[in-house]
Amino acid sequence: MHITQIRLTNFRNFSAADFSPHPKLNFIYGTNGAGKSSILEAIHVLGFGRSFRTSKSDNFINQQSQLASGYCQFENEGQLTKLGFSRSIKEGNTFSINGEKTKRIIDVVRLLPVQIFTPQSSDLILGAPLGRRRYIDWLVFHVEQQFQFKNSRYQNCLNQRNALLKQFDYKQAEQFSLQDVWLNQLADLGESITSYRESYISLLNGEISALYKQFYPELNIVLRYNTGWEKNVPLKDSLKKRIERDLFRGSTSSGPHKADIQFIVDGKNAAEFLSRGQLRLLVSILLLAEVILLRNLTNKPCIFLIDDISAELDEVTREKFIATVLEQNAQVFVTAIEKSQLPFIQDYNNKKVFHVKHDHVIEE
Ligand SMILES: Nc1ncnc2c1ncn2[C@@H]1O[C@H](COP(=O)(O)OP(=O)(O)OP(=O)(O)O)[C@@H](O)[C@H]1O
Ligand SMILES: [Mg+2]
Repeated sequence: MHITQIRLTNFRNFSAADFSPHPKLNFIYGTNGAGKSSILEAIHVLGFGRSFRTSKSDNFINQQSQLASGYCQFENEGQLTKLGFSRSIKEGNTFSINGEKTKRIIDVVRLLPVQIFTPQSSDLILGAPLGRRRYIDWLVFHVEQQFQFKNSRYQNCLNQRNALLKQFDYKQAEQFSLQDVWLNQLADLGESITSYRESYISLLNGEISALYKQFYPELNIVLRYNTGWEKNVPLKDSLKKRIERDLFRGSTSSGPHKADIQFIVDGKNAAEFLSRGQLRLLVSILLLAEVILLRNLTNKPCIFLIDDISAELDEVTREKFIATVLEQNAQVFVTAIEKSQLPFIQDYNNKKVFHVKHDHVIEE
């Protein structure tokens, strides 16, 4: 799978940009503010349905305009697909597949598996649990057809139950229980989501520890999944046990929406033990492991975006990282300020180099 064409219109600083990437390696360079991250951002919107830089999509509409759009054509096993999005200040988001509009972003997201590595990616380890749940869900979502269906039903039940919790006082546990029609479904779906996640964490552990050994043969890494409720207790029992507390708070406090992942290096919490550069390397390994598993389990390669490769990664690591992603048949887009930051790239034949300047993407 690879993107064969990208077109941006009124997206950030680009009024119009159009280029044809290489199926393997694409090196995008240019000065600060040239628009390198914006190109990756547009690909991210096509792959995830949202930006990685802002939660307000209006921010990426060019200041002189009312509407931003992005388009790509990609090839998968000989078949061409066209994906498009537009963001209008008045009408919000629109997505299209082969020219047909779709309301369901999920249909778009399923088509183009995209991974992204940026200087902010260390937040995967240092930041809030939501990022870690998104990390594991990315892999499960792209492999397991049923997962998204269960996840959205779970979210729906959770919202309904939370709304019901808010209607009662914390002293009314008994009355609430009589009306808690969501309990069984929430517990079943929650257990199912958890067992998906747990089995993929276990697969990831194998890949991650093998990759990590290539960089630090002396260190062991383990991912530990915390389910989001008490150990060795069925979710249904935990939900029942916490009714009084949940009524007090007005929300459900146990379940996979509260899950988290711990990263343990040689028995210690990675966030407190590793240096900034080592953390960033670990994140690159976490993402690589997902790309490898996705390929092994589904034969689907992915699009790998690497923004500002030089930040905190030494040259040997940069080279090894890019080489490993390319081995997985992924299409890579990597940005840097200067060509000299990736000297080894000159040895690659399968690549295109793009210079971003004056709001244009120029192939060299
Ligand atoms: N909505 C917008 N309309 C017009 N220009 C914008 C908009 N949002 C951001 N910009 C500008 O777009 C330019 C490109 O930003 P971008 O972050 O893509 O640059 P970059 O090449 O990644 O730079 P750096 O090397 O510093 O990371 C910047 O000058 C930024 O101020
Ligand atoms: Mg940038």
